[in-house]
Amino acid sequence: MSPVQRDDRHHSLNLVPASYEDYRELARRRLPRQIFDYIDGGSFNEVTLAANRTDLQRLHLRQRVLRDVSELDLSTTVMGEQLSLPLILAPVGFGGMFAQRAEVHAARSAERAGISFCESTLSICSMEEVAAASKRPLWFQLYIMKDRRYAEDLMARAQAAGCTTLVVTVDLAVVGKRHRDVRNGISGPLSRINRLRRGIDIARHPRWVREVAWEGRPLTFGNLERALPNARVPGDFQGWVASQFDPSVTWDDLAWLRSHWPGKIALKGILDPEDARQAVANGADAVIVSNHGGRQLDDVPSSISALPAIVNAVGVDCDVLMDGGIRSGLDVVKALALGARACLVGRPWAFAVAARGEEGVDHLLKNIRDEMLVTFGLTGVTNVEQIDASVLATISAEER
Ligand SMILES: Cc1cc2nc3c(=O)[nH]c(=O)nc-3n(C[C@H](O)[C@H](O)[C@H](O)COP(=O)(O)O)c2cc1C
Repeated sequence: MSPVQRDDRHHSLNLVPASYEDYRELARRRLPRQIFDYIDGGSFNEVTLAANRTDLQRLHLRQRVLRDVSELDLSTTVMGEQLSLPLILAPVGFGGMFAQRAEVHAARSAERAGISFCESTLSICSMEEVAAASKRPLWFQLYIMKDRRYAEDLMARAQAAGCTTLVVTVDLAVVGKRHRDVRNGISGPLSRINRLRRGIDIARHPRWVREVAWEGRPLTFGNLERALPNARVPGDFQGWVASQFDPSVTWDDLAWLRSHWPGKIALKGILDPEDARQAVANGADAVIVSNHGGRQLDDVPSSISALPAIVNAVGVDCDVLMDGGIRSGLDVVKALALGARACLVGRPWAFAVAARGEEGVDHLLKNIRDEMLVTFGLTGVTNVEQIDASVLATISAEER
């Protein structure tokens, strides 16, 4: 059985969640198919989506014994900010469609776990609502719309809401083709058959409609309501993004961003060392090695395989973070071993909040923390500074 098939295994009905796969399965049962697939899926043939997992699974940890591992410290700093473990909740659009007020729940859980939550431009809950619910400052993820005044307004609001870090997502100049979304009728023309297909799917999930979808009015993008006349969640996602997002953004625009944002800036969606160097040259405080969770260009390298060259290029000049396929504390340690300062997780919190709300995200984060403690204890490291490539076992080419 391949590692990917193993991730997809079936579970008994009265599942007590113990891992990412369990939360994924619970979310699958709760959500309409179109929403589950929107979260779970990748672009095109999902080659990069799968590689994000298989390339991490190919890395083996090196077990070491008889070292004093009685005191373990998982804490770190990212761009000067203290984190109690090297993890951040990634920006995930449409969160409030997975569970009611999902972004608020995730931010509260992140605060309790001592880590940061990154609010997406395309969140359902506004950044003001989320910031008011948590004492820990948020990070804000920016998509640059064609009308640059939206971006300026969003940056001003993010500052007023106390956000410390601006995460500028740079890998969505055009939208990746997501075949599952087309098949489920949420990208592409709103034809009669697509409406029918979506309607049947939703009608089969009355509990989701009751608990999540209907708050007396249609769900809207909380951060865009003021700026966009029609901020309702679009019928045709791909078409909407293409009509709103600005594909003309270049490196020169970083100076404009900097003039509106006094805090830290991280560029998310870097996969190439040359782009990482340009990011640093243009004043980025961090780069996030990411292929958007395999949702943008397919057939690009997995994040974990792109990481070492980027660390090599800019690791001394800025913090290098990574996301894509991180599912456990073991994965976090592997990414740190290859030079990441911290990891972000997207689907894990999306599925946990869909499955069990705030309690689910609390539990997921506790699990990742516990898994990291076990990994530290059995690889013989006691703090993040000690982690380097020596934590990984070298295995022969045939074994791979
Ligand atoms: C459902 C979903 C929605 C996402 N929305 C956004 C978004 O609005 N902005 C953004 O920068 N990245 C977005 N991403 C990408 C994540 O921030 C992150 O890069 C990715 O999920 C990491 O991979 P993982 O899901 O394997 O952890 C989204 C990812 C998912 C799964």
